[in-house]
Amino acid sequence: MASSILVTRRPPGTALDILSSAGSIDLWEPDEIMLRVELVRRVAEADAVYCMLTDHIDSELLDAAPRLRVVSNMAVGLDNIDLEACTSRGIAVGHTPGVLTEATADLAMALLLGAARRIGEGIDYVRAGSWGEFRLDLLLGQEVHSSTIGVVGMGRIGAAVARRAAGFGMSILYSGPSRKPAIEQELGAQHHRLDDLLRLADHVVITAPLTPETHHLISEDALRLMKPTATLTNVARGPLVDTAALVDALQNRLIASAALDVTDPEPLSSDHPLLSLPNCIVIPHLGSATLKTRAAMADLAARNVVLGLRGKPMEACANPEVYG
Ligand code: GLV
Ligand code: GLV
Repeated sequence: MASSILVTRRPPGTALDILSSAGSIDLWEPDEIMLRVELVRRVAEADAVYCMLTDHIDSELLDAAPRLRVVSNMAVGLDNIDLEACTSRGIAVGHTPGVLTEATADLAMALLLGAARRIGEGIDYVRAGSWGEFRLDLLLGQEVHSSTIGVVGMGRIGAAVARRAAGFGMSILYSGPSRKPAIEQELGAQHHRLDDLLRLADHVVITAPLTPETHHLISEDALRLMKPTATLTNVARGPLVDTAALVDALQNRLIASAALDVTDPEPLSSDHPLLSLPNCIVIPHLGSATLKTRAAMADLAARNVVLGLRGKPMEACANPEVYG
């Protein structure tokens, strides 16, 4: 019998063509997140699921999916997937590292620069018709060149951010569970405990994955360690930051500004306190949002399905132990 591949959102580019070489496609057509009840119902017949970061792949779902052998996330983050539950059932989990690293690092720099140089406030000011004569004291921000960046989580994306920062003449600090000797050698990056990084950095950029250990890593206490002139940029996952504590820190100017591509909750309602703060830029989870990168992610996730269904190692597998 041909394999059945459940696709929870129409992917861009050629992904569906790639998938159709490995089985029949059950596509959720509406241009919106697949309803949980539909996902649970339709996964019952699926040999593979091609899913988005908004689909929760948990034990309950897997219990409803007796045939499932492959889960392919069209994202690098895996916090929407219960990896252990997949592994214990022998289900291979694919994701999309590498292809989105540079695009996400570009966006991280855009946000860092935007927070430091008050780009959001500048846009608001001009749009509001407030632009009068040139003022020497208008919207003065923080230096980026020659300052110190603190990269929280030196994975692929963190390293790509650090390389860009080196181009701005920044000193590079990083935190995370493991030392990265190659980056230390290449960029002179220094590993620090998170507390020390927060005390020393002028611009803190979060690129760490969301895990139980990193949930609310940037807590009220953490924000209190930062310089009052510091900026905080998050391109990872919203729950790494305690949102209420961040609102408080921005309101009370414990830090200068923040720029968030990801939030907790996500999406934010239009009356959320974060959106009323002049010193906070929020954009709607756009880290990998370029035409080329999204197409590359869609194709990689599709190739992962094809290889997984053939029982071959995926190009990017999060639990290769299933191949035992
Ligand atoms: C996006 O956030 C991703 O994990 O790919
Ligand atoms: C993701 O690609 C990371 O390791 O940062």
